[in-house]
Amino acid sequence: LLIDFDTLEVAKRYKLMSQCIVPRPIAWIVTESSNGLNAAPFSYFAPLSSSPAAVVVSIGHKSDSTPKDTLKNLLQNGKCTICAVTAETLPKMHQTATELDYEIDETKLFGIETKRLLPDFPPIIADTPYALFCTFMQKIDLGGKTVPLILKIENLYISPQNVLDENSLELNIQTVARVGKRYALYDKIVEPPKN
Ligand SMILES: Cc1cc2nc3c(=O)[nH]c(=O)nc-3n(C[C@H](O)[C@H](O)[C@H](O)COP(=O)(O)O)c2cc1C
Repeated sequence: LLIDFDTLEVAKRYKLMSQCIVPRPIAWIVTESSNGLNAAPFSYFAPLSSSPAAVVVSIGHKSDSTPKDTLKNLLQNGKCTICAVTAETLPKMHQTATELDYEIDETKLFGIETKRLLPDFPPIIADTPYALFCTFMQKIDLGGKTVPLILKIENLYISPQNVLDENSLELNIQTVARVGKRYALYDKIVEPPKN
């Protein structure tokens, strides 16, 4: 198969890209507004740089063409807390992808426990193995409806149970990834070949 993307519908491009470029990590993003908290998953998400420490997340629009709540909040107050998803929290994460009115707090609606660790950032989802406390750096205009945001990592939280050795910074993090429309858990880590 050789497919010309210029003439392909957006939904079909997404279907193909999301099955080829795998696995994609899931950023379970908590933002805040005067209405309370907002939580939603995003898998057009990737690390960009370690200096500055930055990630990129691409966020689209709702079916009524208004920006998704996470995009609106990030552009309004420049702060978010990116949490990770485990096998245990996968069902709750999936629920938070439901399109809801701006005023609705998904953590309250779906009974997701949160914990505020830093006063200047939204709280973490209590069961997350790690969290990135991020500030907005830059918005990239691709000329389309999806808006990539570059976010700077200001602080990293790691749950004590995921720290193997604090001195050598060895961690054991097993998160859920997205593969096409499905999810993946990896259970096999291999050493690099010895040259
Ligand atoms: C695993 C998963 C990954 C997703 N990734 C993205 C993404 O990268 N970009 C996006 O705009 N929507 C993505 N979505 C859809 C959003 O989560 C969904 O539109 C959500 O309602 C947005 O919430 P908000 O309006 O509260 O920000 C994803 C959904 C799921 C389940």
